[in-house]
Amino acid sequence: MAEDRFDGLDIESLRRRKSEKWSSYPPEILPAWVAEMDFPVAEPIRLALQESLDTSDMGYPIAPGRTGIREAFAERMESRYGWRVDPHQVEVLSEVVQGLYLALSSFAGPGEGVVVQTPIYPPFLGGVEETARRLVEKPLTLGTEGWEIDFDDLAQNLDRETRIFLLCNPHNPSGRVFGRGELERIAELALEHDWVVVADEIHADLVFDERVHVPFASLAPEIEARTLTLNSASKSFNIPGLRCAVAHFGSPDLRKRLDAAYPRHIRGGLGLSGLYATIAAWRECDAWLDALRNHLEANRNYLMDELASRFPGIRCEAPQGTYLAWLDCSGLGWKESPYARFLERGQVALSDGARFGPGFEAFVRLNFATSREILEQILARMESAIQAAD
Ligand SMILES: Cc1ncc(COP(=O)(O)O)c(C=O)c1O
Repeated sequence: MAEDRFDGLDIESLRRRKSEKWSSYPPEILPAWVAEMDFPVAEPIRLALQESLDTSDMGYPIAPGRTGIREAFAERMESRYGWRVDPHQVEVLSEVVQGLYLALSSFAGPGEGVVVQTPIYPPFLGGVEETARRLVEKPLTLGTEGWEIDFDDLAQNLDRETRIFLLCNPHNPSGRVFGRGELERIAELALEHDWVVVADEIHADLVFDERVHVPFASLAPEIEARTLTLNSASKSFNIPGLRCAVAHFGSPDLRKRLDAAYPRHIRGGLGLSGLYATIAAWRECDAWLDALRNHLEANRNYLMDELASRFPGIRCEAPQGTYLAWLDCSGLGWKESPYARFLERGQVALSDGARFGPGFEAFVRLNFATSREILEQILARMESAIQAAD
């Protein structure tokens, strides 16, 4: 078998990182929580950043419209997903979560409803709460495809003051990659209820088993017109610290509403390094990304096999995308939160399910974007926490 460039990571150099994943816990804790990957950055990105250092290229960033980032995004959407994007409808932001907050505040008024599919990436819930919008919670349910949308429930009890549907596809934390049929049913509801759909597609590149990501806005022109798509190179290429994302407005009306609420200077400026790294990622790193996906898929398969054979108290639906596994630990019969128990007794930091929505206190999220060796250590620590006597 060819050598896997994503294995053989040096844990001591990972511990020297100042990023959130590696610096939030003391050194005896092994982190497997926040969605950062442990791999070295792709060479074209490293070279782009090196060139900017070598030339002390640290002046004002030119207007994003002239950097080529909008064109790079549009070309990528068309070549990978068959979605034709007008670069002029693309705006550069510093992060996807910023886009989420801007959209919540621009497309719904205080107290108006926002549909959220729980369990969900915590800033979706925090965003609705902090902007004083009203949470319309629509939990995913377990079915033959794993975590599924309950369309009967989704269509029920919707009031006329519900304005936004927050879509996360591929879905964090479940790892579901929603298919065209499911997206079309959401689209029908969006038309019927006149929703703006905010589609966070940051994990789009990371889908497994020959699946194809379908951009929500690509479904039909009338759907695109009501969709704000948020994307970034930060997950697939592991550059979240460089702060660069894009928003695609499906219609001039959406853009006008957001610009009126938040002029560009309020949104904050961008750093050149984020722009350079993102353009290099989207234009020059496809081979790296293919190799990454193979590694993540192999880790996913290994994880699922180990869970099945060694962890009878844990249930997990195989993630179809992302590098996150959503573990139901209720079969362990613990009274305390599994997050706390794995941390204290296993010295392994997972993400606490309680943060992903009410009713998910018995869950943890595991980040498997690491070397096989470190993943083995994560599982060994979880096993020792389970075996530790009360
Ligand atoms: C679904 C989703 N959206 C957004 C983000 C964060 O993106 P950003 O750092 O660009 O705000 C993450 C990070 O894990 C995520 O999983």
